[in-house]
Amino acid sequence: MCGIVGYIGSQQASDILVNGLRRLEYRGYDSAGVAIVNGSLHVCKREGKVDELDRALKSERLEGSIGIGHTRWATHGPPSNENSHPHVSSDDSFALVHNGIIENYTTLKEGLVRKGYTFDSETDTEVLVHLIEDVRNSTGLELPEAVRQALAMVVGTYGIAIVSREDPDLMIAARKGSPLIVGVGDGEYFLGSDAAPLIEHTRQVVYLHDGEMVVIRRSGMDVRSLDNVPLTKEVHELEWDLEQIEKQGYEYFMLKEIMEQPTALENCLRGRVRPGDNTIQLGGLLEHMERIRAARRIIIVGCGTSWHSALVGEYLIEGLARIPVEVEYASEFRYREPILTDEDVVIAISQSGETADTLAAIREAKEHGALALGICNSVGSTIARETDAGVYLHAGPEIGVASTKAFTAQVAVLTMLALKLAKGRTLTDERFAEYLQGLLEIPNKIRDVLDIHEQIAELAQVYRYASNFLYLGRGYNFPVALEGALKLKEISYIHAEGYPAAEMKHGPIALIDRFMPVVFIAMHDSTYSKVVSNIEEVVARRGSVIAITDNGSDIERHCEYMVRIPQTEEFLTPLLTVVPLQLLSYYIAVLRGCDVDQPRNLAKSVTVE
Ligand code: G6P
Repeated sequence: MCGIVGYIGSQQASDILVNGLRRLEYRGYDSAGVAIVNGSLHVCKREGKVDELDRALKSERLEGSIGIGHTRWATHGPPSNENSHPHVSSDDSFALVHNGIIENYTTLKEGLVRKGYTFDSETDTEVLVHLIEDVRNSTGLELPEAVRQALAMVVGTYGIAIVSREDPDLMIAARKGSPLIVGVGDGEYFLGSDAAPLIEHTRQVVYLHDGEMVVIRRSGMDVRSLDNVPLTKEVHELEWDLEQIEKQGYEYFMLKEIMEQPTALENCLRGRVRPGDNTIQLGGLLEHMERIRAARRIIIVGCGTSWHSALVGEYLIEGLARIPVEVEYASEFRYREPILTDEDVVIAISQSGETADTLAAIREAKEHGALALGICNSVGSTIARETDAGVYLHAGPEIGVASTKAFTAQVAVLTMLALKLAKGRTLTDERFAEYLQGLLEIPNKIRDVLDIHEQIAELAQVYRYASNFLYLGRGYNFPVALEGALKLKEISYIHAEGYPAAEMKHGPIALIDRFMPVVFIAMHDSTYSKVVSNIEEVVARRGSVIAITDNGSDIERHCEYMVRIPQTEEFLTPLLTVVPLQLLSYYIAVLRGCDVDQPRNLAKSVTVE
């Protein structure tokens, strides 16, 4: 949430900052701004997307080789030029950008107002600016030290970057709860709230950890803890390629990422699913497998789409390995004083690895002695670092705000984990081998599903004007129904609800009339005959049924539209059934003229609670 970029070196900062902000726009797109130092402090900021800022900058042409930039997801104060970052000190001497929430900003602000500071915005961030200013003015400290002391008074979360008119060879950044990465170049440094803006400049990066502050000069950087202890930081090599974060001819990242799913899953399974020796290797979990097998229960936490994949995980692990599983919204789990012991295993699922609630849930689990595992996509992310062990998705960067390939890769990782736990426990070697084969066939079966994208685009034409949708599924495909509904509402703003198909009778059935499209996931599996009964119930009330089904089914006469996809083992069906639902949402959103990659009010990485 909120994107931060920074540059210090010998190139013109303006272009680097604007390009960086474009790469980060998925973190927030309510407003954008930059501050560039060149003799004085030049600030340019605009409500709206980075394009607005770019247009303004083209007319202003800000020169200078040091600067910071920000793309905002509004928390305190609506999107406006005034509330945009950077915010500047009263004497125009330094500018600051911020991601996070200053929770005690009201108290701090009252004190500052009493001292005569005036505020131009409604943001919590401006409070931090004046607080730093106040510490500096009252103590005479240099800016880095004043920042350090001001941060000690702050309750809340932050990733901040600061540049100063008085010292054009100084950039300060600090974090607590909101990610920051420093890119190391030759006589130049880049700052980003994730790796996306850094990749085109350097692969050498330093991850700033919570409670750390860095003072960057062209000649080098000095990282210290917030209580001023010097730290030696490791330089990491980024794995991502520039092509991976570009659209490569697709109109939207979301479509590119839907289409990438076969390759993403191949990368996720590669080297892990080993039919040769009939094993699954999850290197990161190696030393913890016994503890996971012996767990009293496994609790999986996540938010949004990751919570849906966690639900599939519950069906997988309980169904295949017979270990009790509970799935929790991370935001609820962290505050409801869950009963946890060291016999529990808590798995956090997060594409970004930065979601504030999921991170807090993991910290809660660790405090109670539970084994904390992470299933993340972003390498080096905070959740990946703070968990005891984990598995990366290897799905490649996901830029579209609506998650697609991360969902299927998360389900693939959970499938591997479930099978690994089940081997020798509930599954014979022969059955395990069959299942491995089934899993390895999934990428090509997804290719088959993607081949019928035009049929789904036609379906979207039919339903583009609907104002409500119902998604129904049972068993393994109940979470997929939830995910299908979430995808549609996220990007097309059509109200949609996902339900377990049988549960429809306890409420949603009242909504059904001929204007209500009902999407059924009706694969030919153990739930099939029950789902068919539910379809009949909808048809009897003149609902318009769309069925996602496989070649084995015979429900044509009940359905207005059928999307036939390949057959697979029941526990593998979510990996296929979700794909037409992603495509349906995508095409409907495009037809309705929505901004698919940057849906209103949403952000990709939710780093505030
Ligand atoms: C946001 C995104 C969703 C995502 C959720 C959890 O709401 O818009 O697409 O599923 O956060 O994110 P995570 O990175 O933890 O998987």
